[in-house]
Amino acid sequence: MSVLVVAWVLCIFMQHRNMAIGAGFVAASNSSALDLEAKALIESGWWSGYSNDTSIHCRWRGITCNDRGSVIEIDMGGIYLGDKFRKFNFSSFPNLKILYLDGAGLRGSIPPEIGTLSKLTSLYLSTNNLTGNLPLSLTNLTQLKGFSIYNNLISGSIPNELGDLKNLVALDLGLNKLTGPIPSTLDIFTNLHNLKSLFLDSNQFNGSIPPKIGNMKNLTTLYLSNNRIVGEIPSTIGRLTSLSTFLLDSNQINGPIPVEIGNMKSLRNLNLSNNSLAGEIPSTIGHLNDLSILSLSWNQISGSIPVELANCSSLVNLSLSHNYLNGSIPSQFSKLFSLHSIDLSYNKLTGNIPHYLVPLEFNLSYNSLKGQISNIFKSHSFDAFIGNKDLCGDFKGLSPCLPSSPIMSKIKMSLPFIILIVLLLLGYFFYSQCWDGKTQSNPVTVKNGDLFSIWNFDGKIAYEDIIEATNDFDIRYCIGTGGYGSVYKAQLPSGKVVALKKLHRLEAEDPTFDKSFKNEVKMLTEIRHKNIVKLHGYCLHKRCMFLVYQYMERGSLFCILSNDVEAMELDWNKRMSIIKAIAHALSYMHHECIPVIIHRDISSNNILLNSKLEAFLSDFGTARLLDPKSSNQTLVVGTYGYIAPELAYTMVVTEKCDVYSFGMVALEILMGRHPGDLLTSLSTLSSQKLMLTEILDQRLPPPNRSIAQDIFFATSIAFACLCTKPKSRPTMKWVSQECLSSKKPLANPLHAISLWQLKNQETYMMRE
Ligand SMILES: *[C@@H]1O[C@H](CO)[C@@H](O)[C@H](O)[C@H]1NC(C)=O
Ligand SMILES: *[C@@H]1O[C@H](CO)[C@@H](O)[C@H](O)[C@H]1NC(C)=O
Ligand SMILES: *[C@@H]1O[C@H](CO)[C@@H](O)[C@H](O)[C@H]1NC(C)=O
Ligand SMILES: *[C@@H]1O[C@H](CO)[C@@H](O)[C@H](O)[C@H]1NC(C)=O
Ligand SMILES: *[C@@H]1O[C@H](CO)[C@@H](O)[C@H](O)[C@H]1NC(C)=O
Ligand SMILES: *[C@@H]1O[C@H](CO)[C@@H](O)[C@H](O)[C@H]1NC(C)=O
Ligand SMILES: *[C@@H]1O[C@H](CO)[C@@H](O)[C@H](O)[C@H]1NC(C)=O
Ligand SMILES: *[C@@H]1O[C@H](CO)[C@@H](O)[C@H](O)[C@H]1NC(C)=O
Ligand SMILES: *[C@@H]1O[C@H](CO)[C@@H](O)[C@H](O)[C@H]1NC(C)=O
Ligand SMILES: *[C@@H]1O[C@H](CO)[C@@H](O)[C@H](O)[C@H]1NC(C)=O
Ligand SMILES: *[C@@H]1O[C@H](CO)[C@@H](O)[C@H](O)[C@H]1NC(C)=O
Ligand SMILES: *[C@@H]1O[C@H](CO)[C@@H](O)[C@H](O)[C@H]1NC(C)=O
Repeated sequence: MSVLVVAWVLCIFMQHRNMAIGAGFVAASNSSALDLEAKALIESGWWSGYSNDTSIHCRWRGITCNDRGSVIEIDMGGIYLGDKFRKFNFSSFPNLKILYLDGAGLRGSIPPEIGTLSKLTSLYLSTNNLTGNLPLSLTNLTQLKGFSIYNNLISGSIPNELGDLKNLVALDLGLNKLTGPIPSTLDIFTNLHNLKSLFLDSNQFNGSIPPKIGNMKNLTTLYLSNNRIVGEIPSTIGRLTSLSTFLLDSNQINGPIPVEIGNMKSLRNLNLSNNSLAGEIPSTIGHLNDLSILSLSWNQISGSIPVELANCSSLVNLSLSHNYLNGSIPSQFSKLFSLHSIDLSYNKLTGNIPHYLVPLEFNLSYNSLKGQISNIFKSHSFDAFIGNKDLCGDFKGLSPCLPSSPIMSKIKMSLPFIILIVLLLLGYFFYSQCWDGKTQSNPVTVKNGDLFSIWNFDGKIAYEDIIEATNDFDIRYCIGTGGYGSVYKAQLPSGKVVALKKLHRLEAEDPTFDKSFKNEVKMLTEIRHKNIVKLHGYCLHKRCMFLVYQYMERGSLFCILSNDVEAMELDWNKRMSIIKAIAHALSYMHHECIPVIIHRDISSNNILLNSKLEAFLSDFGTARLLDPKSSNQTLVVGTYGYIAPELAYTMVVTEKCDVYSFGMVALEILMGRHPGDLLTSLSTLSSQKLMLTEILDQRLPPPNRSIAQDIFFATSIAFACLCTKPKSRPTMKWVSQECLSSKKPLANPLHAISLWQLKNQETYMMRE
């Protein structure tokens, strides 16, 4: 994890300004102060490779100056500085606001002189080898909003005076050697009203969590993992209604999980694993609609799994392993459509294995489950079932089931059930056949020995139906042609309308098209998100290659924005919802999928709208799993006008490329047209005076007060995403979380805000 800083002050304008300054613009009256700055830069030795011509120091790597030529930002971008930290003459930079020295190999202790940088708002020292205590002089930095020493060797306790830094928004002290109790310090932290992110994980903090933690109502992220914290979770935790990530794993917490946890409405990621929690899982957990990752493993939790957990419809990962849970696995979990993996191993669960688990990653080992393991689980490893002595089945290591077992006779009686199993088996056959490229002898025969069967999740679409509905892909049913296929609309006998994406015949013979098609299938079967187009099924065979998608009545966002009548239908509220939907979908792909999925071709053509004008991301053909081990160097893909600038020369695809394209689409939604012209003209001074309302889609009435702050926010985010430097762009996770948080009312009306002002704000975020 590395600290990510979003400080996009002037990120686009600045390059232009630096040039102006570099051309020799220095105010005469201040020249001595500026000379001092320049001299101090030289003497620091941080820019040793640069010439001694100090008049152009504003153009040196990582330096940003204000329009009077005084240094306001230094971002060393990970350049090695070693023990040159102390050679920096802090008192020479009265205007320095931002200092980024992440991963610079810094050694020794933090120089106390840092306290003279009285205008500092951001100080990032993460991932270095800094030792010693936190200097008391830090408390001089009263403007500080973001401070990180993540991943260093800092020891001692947190000075109480840190509580005086009332402007702090994000504080990251994680992964150090800090000691002492949390109570006294957190008590002080109740002063930090603006604090949104607090990271204290992986230190040696002891003592218990102070009940006053409930006062930190603005907190969205709290990491306390991997310390020596004892005692119970205070019930006041329920007051943290903005908290989205709460990690308390690997401590020595005991007592029950408080029922008040159900009040933490924003909770998405909760990890209480590896503690000594006892008692039952409170049913109030069912109130947490956004909860997507829940880990309660390695505790002493007893009782049964509450059925209310099935109310957490966003749940993706559930781990309850290594506890004393009894009773059966709730059948209600079948409605958890986002669920990706479930670990219930090492408990005392009884009953049978529910079939809805088939498509999931799961572990049910070491319980007291009984009955037959159906063949539909064949693609799973036996390890997922091991240690349940009353399970039987066709698996290696299991005893075969006795014909008289009650489960067998039940199956015999239920013909529909057998049909369902056969369908699922067929599905699995095609899944493995088309997937791994393995050819199996003995194919299951369907209809005259043809292999044209469709694997789908509900077993209700037949190949014949598709052929009939489209009159064998008659051109009349074609609704569009894309990069590597045509899209058809088909109404099935059930009345259901689906979209079919079919490869052109010629293209189907081209191995690269074949590859992109398979890519898309692989992606989509692994992705389940409410803002990503659903894949109902597919047929992968030499003679028939198509995907069956959820049909999107209103077509692409591009088409709607291009049509004056339809564009009017997309009012400001709907447009905001579209931006949020895409942000959530991308955040899911970038941060919840493992491995990470990069879309690589976000554009208004690939955002589809249903009849309610809700947005869905589609077209993963060029997406590729970002394997951390592979180089990610590839040919440029994507749509012209949405491609991140760095791709032109680095050819390295990262999530930040998607973030850039997202920024472009968001701006396009706000402006009603592609922002190409605007972005090029933004580098001229005159366009910086442009008012925000002037760039908004003029076909719509101006936004009213209730939506103004959302529009302001969305525009700010869009510009941040369009930063030239990939590192300065926010992550989609941050964008997605910000979309959910309530916005402060604007101090000025929208029509009084210029693009310049809009971009002059700062946002802080860390380690996402
Ligand atoms: C820059 O100045 C230092 C002394 O401050 C001197 O040692 C060095 O040779 C100079 N470098 C260049 C390139 O002029
Ligand atoms: C320049 O001098 C003026 C007053 O003499 C002062 O207000 C301003 O902060 C100075 N600017 C810099 C960059 O030192
Ligand atoms: C830092 O710069 C100031 C002038 O601004 C000077 O007086 C002081 O000696 C310098 N300190 C060091 C350690 O070089
Ligand atoms: C810290 O120091 C060790 C040993 O000198 C070195 O291997 C490591 O890379 C350093 N870590 C950082 C983050 O600079
Ligand atoms: C703290 O700030 C004051 C003035 O703002 C300054 O005089 C003092 O030297 C600073 N302390 C440290 C330790 O930097
Ligand atoms: C907490 O840690 C400090 C320093 O490591 C130690 O002195 C103190 O006794 C510990 N307190 C408790 C309650 O364990
Ligand atoms: C939350 O932050 C806002 C400003 O960002 C502040 O006005 C408010 O008092 C804070 N709330 C609490 C409970 O600290
Ligand atoms: C929860 O914490 C445990 C123990 O620290 C860790 O192994 C696990 O990966 C965490 N789970 C998630 C989902 O982050
Ligand atoms: C549980 O936490 C302890 C430290 O408290 C750690 O040593 C151990 O590895 C953790 N176990 C798991 C499974 O995360
Ligand atoms: C479950 O969800 C339903 C509707 O979303 C709600 O009425 C009910 O109160 C929830 N139950 C719990 C225990 O949260
Ligand atoms: C589960 O365990 C609890 C004790 O922890 C016990 O009271 C309850 O009867 C058990 N339920 C089942 C279904 O075995
Ligand atoms: C979800 O669970 C799987 C399997 O337990 C694990 O590999 C993965 O890291 C988890 N994902 C997240 C986002 O925690």
